[in-house]
Amino acid sequence: MARAMKDKSCLLSEEVLTKYRIELLVKGSVVIAPQMLFTQDDIARIDQLQAEIPEEEVREGDAGDLHSVFVQRVRVDPPGHAPSNVSGTASGQIMELLESRDRSFALRKIFGASADYVVRRCQMHRMPPGSFIGIHLDAASDPDFEYSVIVQLARDFDGGEFVVYPTGYEQHVFRPPFGAVLVTTCKVRHEVKPVSSGERRSLVYFCSKRSGVNRRIIEGSNARP
Ligand SMILES: [Fe+2]
Repeated sequence: MARAMKDKSCLLSEEVLTKYRIELLVKGSVVIAPQMLFTQDDIARIDQLQAEIPEEEVREGDAGDLHSVFVQRVRVDPPGHAPSNVSGTASGQIMELLESRDRSFALRKIFGASADYVVRRCQMHRMPPGSFIGIHLDAASDPDFEYSVIVQLARDFDGGEFVVYPTGYEQHVFRPPFGAVLVTTCKVRHEVKPVSSGERRSLVYFCSKRSGVNRRIIEGSNARP
C-alpha cells in the first residue's frame, strides 16, 4: 500500500475515483480514505519539510472573518499577482510532492476535469486548543479557486470539526482521520470548530483550472483584477 503512489496502475482504481467523483459532485465535499492520495511516507516527508517554514498567527481572514490559527505559507496567491512559492527550498519540495504526476492524475479524476489543475495557494495550519477558523468562503480569497484539498496531519485532538454549509439550513460535519484528505468545493461556506484538546494540523491547497494573476478585487484599494 505504501508503494501505491509509485505505480499509477496500483493507484486508486478508475472505479474508486469515479465513486469519489460522484460524491464530490453530489455533495460538494468528499473524504478520500487514508493512504489513498498520501502515503505515510509522503506525510512524514511533509512533516520533515514544514519544520523549515516560518509560522505566523492569523486572526483575520481575507473577507474580514475571524480566525485563530497558526499558518505556514508554502505557495501564496496575492491579488493582482500570479501564485508563487515562498522563499526557501522546503516550499518548492512540498509543492513538488503535491504536484507529482500520479497525485495530479488522481485529483483531476476526482474533480472530473479533462485538463490539469494548478495549485494556486498552499499552506499548513496548526491549531492548538482554542484555535478555530470562522465561517468563510474560499472563493473570497481568489475567485478562481475551485476545490480545496485538506490533508489531515494530526492524530490526537478533540474538536476542530470541519463544518460545511451547502445551503442556509444544511450542514455537513467532517472529522477526517489522520492521513485522510477532504476535498471540497470553494463555493460553499465552511468553518473549523474550536479545538478543545490536542493539536489539529493540516495541509491545505486550493486548485484551479486557471493559472495567472489572482483576479480578486479588494474594495477600497487600487488593486486591479
Ligand atoms: Fe477555507
